[in-house]
Amino acid sequence: MGNGGQDILIVIMAKKVAVLPGDGIGPEVVAEAVKVVSAATSEYSFEEALVGGAAYDATGVPLPKETLELCQSANAVLMGAVGGPKWDHIQPAELRPEIGALLALRRELGLYANVRPAKTMKALINASPLKGDHGMIDLCVVRELTGGIYFGEPRERRDNGNTAIDTCVYNRTEIERITLQAFEVARSRRKEVVSVDKANVLETSRLWREVVSELATKHPDVKVTHMLVDNCAMQLVRDPGQFDVILTENMFGDILSDEASMITGSLGLLPSASLGASKGDRPFGLYEPVHGSAPDIAGQGRANPIATILSAALMLRYTFNDHSTAQRIEDACEAALNEGFRTADIFEKDCNLVSTSKLGDAIVSKL
Ligand code: IPM
Ligand code: MG
Repeated sequence: MGNGGQDILIVIMAKKVAVLPGDGIGPEVVAEAVKVVSAATSEYSFEEALVGGAAYDATGVPLPKETLELCQSANAVLMGAVGGPKWDHIQPAELRPEIGALLALRRELGLYANVRPAKTMKALINASPLKGDHGMIDLCVVRELTGGIYFGEPRERRDNGNTAIDTCVYNRTEIERITLQAFEVARSRRKEVVSVDKANVLETSRLWREVVSELATKHPDVKVTHMLVDNCAMQLVRDPGQFDVILTENMFGDILSDEASMITGSLGLLPSASLGASKGDRPFGLYEPVHGSAPDIAGQGRANPIATILSAALMLRYTFNDHSTAQRIEDACEAALNEGFRTADIFEKDCNLVSTSKLGDAIVSKL
């Protein structure tokens, strides 16, 4: 008795998404993602909170306590973007949106695994800076997100400010868990992992290579090779089709994921997932577009909402295991592009130039 009612309560509470629109074009693109998911299914509840410069202006801090608590109480976070020139000069730097909100969220929520798929859409092959089929890629960067030089101590100035110190630290546990995550991602793809490091110079990279090699022996279903980061940057331009999963540390992953994403033609198309430990049997994650807040075009309806819509689809896949709705949303994005709907960043001759919300409407109509 009464059990039925409890079950219903659990189901309702279990699909809560914290929505953090943020700054610049963030609110516009997030609104389209919420619109598309809500049109596809009524299973998710969305609750908004302030983050980034918008939160700083309203409350004096880029990540208010209520925002962090909302994220902690949700199953997943859908974020737009944070930052912009207006907040670049805030002192101390810990109050700037990038450090005080984005990096703080990654640290506080334990989001150690950043998954950034980069797949060229057929309709947009001409937008790739690499010519012809060369730009047809389908790879995924798995970037360690809470360690390395981004978070190492000490980080300080000495010598009256004339010497600056950042520290790169990695331990075995951090390398193991991101490696296992990369193997998991590879298992749903071509099962090939290239681990990228700078083992000819860095001690952290030598440990990295050691740990990845050990795990590779224990998981023979995944093919693992190693590549130095400078060579990888070059190979991504020379022959990007050779990559399936790129596994790498925080800063190399930051750089290589921008390079990989540009090969698909537009940063405006690429989603990302930042995953942490599971909550119950669900992986917790923060989902956001790879692009930034683009303050120069904010508020004009010119932003491409597809990266955020695809990030919401990743959320349905990874956190909620709802592959069928995710697939419908991904197919709807591709269908809208195939029909010629374009925002300015990917506009081509003979296409239909539309605003952010009109592209959202076109995608809804394809669901
Ligand atoms: C990214 C961004 C961030 C990073 C910045 C905004 C701190 O470039 O998510 O790739 O370097 O991680
Ligand atoms: Mg980056």
